[in-house]
Amino acid sequence: MLAARAREVIRRCRLLAECSEEPGWTTRTFLSRPMRAVHGDLAAWMGDLEMTVRVDAAGNLRGVYPGLHADAPRLFIGSHLDTVPHAGAFDGVLGVVLAIALVDLLNGNRFPFAIEVVGFSEEEGVRFGVPFIGSRAFAGSADAAVLEQRDIAGVSVADAIRDYGLDPSSISAARAGANALGYLEFHIEQGPVLDSLGIPLGVVDAIAGQTRAEVAFTGAAGHAGTTPMRGRRDALAAAAEWIVAVEREANATPELVATVGRVSADPGAGNVIAARCSATLDVRHADDAVRRAACERLAAEAQEIAARRGVDLAWTSRLDQPAVPMNAALVAALERAVSRAGAPVHHLVSGAGHDAMIVASRMPAAMLFVRSPGGLSHHPDEDVVEEDVAMALEVGRHFLDQLS
Ligand code: HGY
Ligand code: MN
Ligand code: MN
Repeated sequence: MLAARAREVIRRCRLLAECSEEPGWTTRTFLSRPMRAVHGDLAAWMGDLEMTVRVDAAGNLRGVYPGLHADAPRLFIGSHLDTVPHAGAFDGVLGVVLAIALVDLLNGNRFPFAIEVVGFSEEEGVRFGVPFIGSRAFAGSADAAVLEQRDIAGVSVADAIRDYGLDPSSISAARAGANALGYLEFHIEQGPVLDSLGIPLGVVDAIAGQTRAEVAFTGAAGHAGTTPMRGRRDALAAAAEWIVAVEREANATPELVATVGRVSADPGAGNVIAARCSATLDVRHADDAVRRAACERLAAEAQEIAARRGVDLAWTSRLDQPAVPMNAALVAALERAVSRAGAPVHHLVSGAGHDAMIVASRMPAAMLFVRSPGGLSHHPDEDVVEEDVAMALEVGRHFLDQLS
């Protein structure tokens, strides 16, 4: 019975993966056009379960399954609906589709708490460079500056919200109510740990902290054929030397990961020395002091390279997100639910960031990881195992029983 439900969860995730800004790929950024189709399908599936559905002013999809009484406290179960470019079908979406399947599993039985399924509008930070827009609004921590962030076309977050037919001035109404019981997020692990251990599910103890920044080197354009090497102020060469230093720093610091995922050079012609080159920086570690010390060393390296090469440096911080522990009581409840489902209990720290780390500032939060075959994610071949999804559903059912 759960196998059929798990198959349907996977089918629905793959169906939603076709809602994309890029035909043939899964790319869905903040409140882009394909998000309407995703909201439409999810709202229809929740409507079938007689849930009341709305989209809040931050573009979060919200579906409520009432409790036994009108003023019952509320358990939130959700994840994000946006994706990275050329994503897989499960990062984020699995958590929302699984939540709906869990409500379906209840067959109309009510609990002493309501269940609200939340599909966050923006977790990856692809369109505006800042992540967690939806969950920050939900947690009540979205400041006005977030609304002013602009994408490469100059469209602000507020404009994008208006273009979607929503009112950014009421974003404070997206905040979760005071009667929150807690938040549970089902998510693929996105890493190799569970797969390498042959374990279907993982109980998350904490989520690693992360630093995101934009690092720009500015030198001088020039003719590639006539400008002598000596005396060039080549912004791309400076960035390249620094990017190698980023990798060297990460290899030298245990458990630290650092990535430059995007580089853009201007004017960007093969026969022109780059006048400007910007690079993104993403640094993660479970210990904030280690992460911040590494970032300071990377900033000093960038300064030294820029000074030696006669180029200017601009370091724009995009995010300094501390590591967040999950709520001990909910982690214990999740651990008991995993045991009752007959699965091995494995605890781990998440290297990936998640909405749960933002929501945790507002209410007790916990995460259950589902194995990522091959540890693959942020990749079109990202996958899940049907039996693991069925097991996650069973764990979710035991978790709700415990809470009630
Ligand atoms: O980048 C991350 O950690 C997550 O996939 N948004
Ligand atoms: Mn992701
Ligand atoms: Mn995710």
